[in-house]
Amino acid sequence: PNIKPLIAGNWKMHGTSASLSSLEAMATGFAEAASDADGVICVPATLLERAAGVVEGSSLQVGGQDCHPAEKGAHTGDISPEMLSDCGAIYVIVGHSERRADHGESDGVVADKAKAAWRAGLIAIICIGETEAQRKAGETFNVLEEQMAGSVPAGASATNTVIAYEPVWAIGTGLTPEIADIEAAHAHIRQHLRKQLGAETADSMRLLYGGSVKPGNAGDILSVENVDGALIGGASLKAEDYLGIVGSVG
Ligand code: G3H
Repeated sequence: PNIKPLIAGNWKMHGTSASLSSLEAMATGFAEAASDADGVICVPATLLERAAGVVEGSSLQVGGQDCHPAEKGAHTGDISPEMLSDCGAIYVIVGHSERRADHGESDGVVADKAKAAWRAGLIAIICIGETEAQRKAGETFNVLEEQMAGSVPAGASATNTVIAYEPVWAIGTGLTPEIADIEAAHAHIRQHLRKQLGAETADSMRLLYGGSVKPGNAGDILSVENVDGALIGGASLKAEDYLGIVGSVG
């Protein structure tokens, strides 16, 4: 099927009020830059409500970067998906490798967060990806399978879930896998999801590639079969870079 690509930005722990002008430029330029793509910028929670105001009326949307599985409760410092939704989020990233590493998030926790995102009406961007050591040991496909089995819950559909494949060693390093390796990983993910979720769901679910996507390599990466968009860290901070990537959707 024809899948509409999603160009997702992840600002990580970057951005204060001053960054909203950059978001405004992205919102203004998005429709012109995008041939046929959806766009979302996942901003820090502190900016979310203002960011939603900035993109209002444009075709760019905003999202959160993590959520707690519960709707509310005694969880100091945490934010529920209902709170993100209340601030205007449409998407939320769950299971980013930085959260898996920095906060010890297991596949089970990631699955709970994805289900919580759906409960709040958000689209979950579930991240998976192997470390450099796992790749060198030839374990990439096993790791991906295990992460899909553990962190993509039953009930995942093409409308409530996006899968982001991010090789951990490619994040923020300027390194990317060979195009053939991206193609093989995405084909493998699609194949595994067919078994896990059924062919109809798997074949219409967006599979994003993430890890050092820049305007200069986006065209090649986005034209790979089974790559239905990108999850962009560093290059989503500047409007020029983000819109350059959006413009390479072809
Ligand atoms: O969520 C985004 C990814 O971690 C990619 O980050 O584009 O800075 O490599 P990067």
